[in-house]
Amino acid sequence: MSGRLQNQVAWISGAASGMGEATACLFAREGAAVALIDIQAENGRRIAEQIRTGGGRASFIECDVTREAPVRSSIEQTVEQFGGLQILVNCAGIVQVKLLHEVTEEEWDYLMAVNVKSIFFSAKHGIAHLRQNRRSYVVNVGSIGSFIGQSSTPAYITSKGAVLQLSRSIALDYAADGVRCNCVCPGITDTPLLREHLNKSPDPEATLEQRLRRVPMGIPLTPHDIAKAILYLSCEDSAGVTGTSLVVDGGYIAAAEWETTHPAPRTEGP
Ligand SMILES: NC(=O)c1ccc[n+]([C@@H]2O[C@H](COP(=O)([O-])OP(=O)(O)OC[C@H]3O[C@@H](n4cnc5c(N)ncnc54)[C@H](O)[C@@H]3O)[C@@H](O)[C@H]2O)c1
Repeated sequence: MSGRLQNQVAWISGAASGMGEATACLFAREGAAVALIDIQAENGRRIAEQIRTGGGRASFIECDVTREAPVRSSIEQTVEQFGGLQILVNCAGIVQVKLLHEVTEEEWDYLMAVNVKSIFFSAKHGIAHLRQNRRSYVVNVGSIGSFIGQSSTPAYITSKGAVLQLSRSIALDYAADGVRCNCVCPGITDTPLLREHLNKSPDPEATLEQRLRRVPMGIPLTPHDIAKAILYLSCEDSAGVTGTSLVVDGGYIAAAEWETTHPAPRTEGP
């Protein structure tokens, strides 16, 4: 542990799985007290317990981020329990694989609420606490879909474009208060969300292999790879960086087209 986040308190949504979980564990190892925010209570409690067993400070708060009152209350509980708030990480997200004409109004609204409105709520209620510090950080998880299109995911792609724009807006409006806001944009990352997406195809492994041929590095990223990018933007290693995006995609959007012949070495775990 290098202690990059000593004396910091982080509120992390989507922390019961995938990138949010990896971020909570990494942040705790770096010395932060972490509030794990999610609707998956069993997983969330287990991860918080693991962090505490390893000597870290963590607490799980069950919270549906699509609803304003619970988000506000989760932030207040975080501040009450750990004595402040320096870092907000918005990692909660869902995907829908459907053509636009098949999407119901409720499905569209729910996805937008999880992926976008949740960031509005957490920033709205977190900002008064963040402003009390000399330096604070908001990191939102976008996607390569913040920049490029993808088939059969109209609501998802729209939401990820919005996450990047909302990140820029937060960055501009609170820069003078010492709050930096950035967007991490992952490519194909091996998490339960990716598996759920792939399972919609008849042969998930073949679909993954086919997708990875389009990636110059030719490998899926790990949740830990993304957590490290989130950490960079949540501390002074990234001093001066605000209103921008950090794409972590194995080279995906650098190339208009690509056919990988052999994969790069796997990335390292935690
Ligand atoms: N996995 C990928 O390939 C990939 C690529 C680009 C972007 N992303 C983005 O990364 C983020 C994290 O995704 P992941 O791949 O780790 O997925 P994941 O499914 O492993 O984790 C997402 C978490 O969000 C939580 N969540 C969903 N709805 C919620 C709600 N209403 N309230 C509170 N929590 C809720 C889930 O319970 C889950 O724990 C998402 O925003 C996703 O869009 C993922």
